[in-house]
Amino acid sequence: MDRTDGMTDRRDILQCLMGLPFATLRPALAVDWSPLRIQAKRAGLFYGTAVSGALLKSDSEYASLVGREAGILVAEGETKRSAVQQVEGTFNFGGADAILDFARKNQQMMRGHTLVWHRSNPAWLAARLQQTKDERLLTDFISASVKRFQGVFHSWDVVNEAVDIASPNADALRTDSIWYAAFGNSYIETAFRCARDADKTVPLYYNEANLEGDVWWAEKRRIATLNLLESLIAKNVPINGLGIQGHLKAFSLKFNEEVFSRFLDKVSALGLKIIITELDVADIHGPSDPSTRDQMVADLTRRYLDVAFSKKAMIGCLTWGISDKYSWLSDDKNYRWPDGQRSRGLPYDEYFRAKPMRDAIAKAIENRAI
Ligand code: G3I
Repeated sequence: MDRTDGMTDRRDILQCLMGLPFATLRPALAVDWSPLRIQAKRAGLFYGTAVSGALLKSDSEYASLVGREAGILVAEGETKRSAVQQVEGTFNFGGADAILDFARKNQQMMRGHTLVWHRSNPAWLAARLQQTKDERLLTDFISASVKRFQGVFHSWDVVNEAVDIASPNADALRTDSIWYAAFGNSYIETAFRCARDADKTVPLYYNEANLEGDVWWAEKRRIATLNLLESLIAKNVPINGLGIQGHLKAFSLKFNEEVFSRFLDKVSALGLKIIITELDVADIHGPSDPSTRDQMVADLTRRYLDVAFSKKAMIGCLTWGISDKYSWLSDDKNYRWPDGQRSRGLPYDEYFRAKPMRDAIAKAIENRAI
């Protein structure tokens, strides 16, 4: 599989017509029902989703929706270090391989997430790092993973979430991390250089969360992220782009188009590509009527993506899941509904029926004019 989406429009449309769930067949003049992957491609973008390999196997409706709509996949867990390196010295890429196999069958690209994070590390790692501070505990996993998928993955999230506004340091870079504890901030640079040594061409991304709110702490995060990116570039660290997670909060965080637009312009001015890597919308604290909530979630999605897709540096968007049947938002203590109902923050509902959020993504794609 190369790094372009090789599927022809004809085949996509055929698959679409054969596989459309009943609810999506309703007449809707304003909505283009061809798969999002096709619409995105026409606009010079890609659309994709995070997936679970286990669910692709066990839930055929889910798998066919992913196969139809997504042009690119990312593993929600299978390429994380906790999954790959449960035992020191061994690398198990079985979970990632299964997703890659699905992606190949569906002519989809795949991206890697994430090589270095303060979370989702195997239990043995923290103690070993503390004992030895051996840099190979950082670099061996990066080299093994990047080489394993060399020439195959579209891109890698190399370092994830290094910014922390609770940091005691003026740079607002995270200190409550096994990586900072062992190496200081140099782990970030080391990680990118190591990934580039392992694959000379794969695009390397820094991935960050909470970059869009119109509040002081999000501004602090944007400034810290820009400073980090600038300092890496000044040191000739090989970095190609910024991944903006895009976990939006429809009812607890203000979004302002101009603020987000200015930030994207500053990232673009650094010569970096941008991907929305983990889009979803927390709907906790919203109105109790699901259809009212769905519309509000969709409206925010549209406002957000209209800004994002207006930038030339923006190359694509992945949602962090595709159906409300499977979303981390329904499990997380900060975002789940206390009465046990599912969160409704993804383009399809729990019965795989398209929601207004799906239309919002389609219209934002269509609206891209560059
Ligand atoms: O697989 C084990 C299972 O064996 C065990 O019984 C169960 C008990 O809790 O845990 C299962 O592992 C969980 C795993 O998801 C698979 O479901 C982990 O506890 C849980 O921590 C893990 O959560 C993931 C989280 O990242 C941490 O890796 C979420 O699914 C995933 O959506 C979330 O994704 C992150 C991105 O990587 C980075 N940006 C934020 C985003 C949301 O938090």
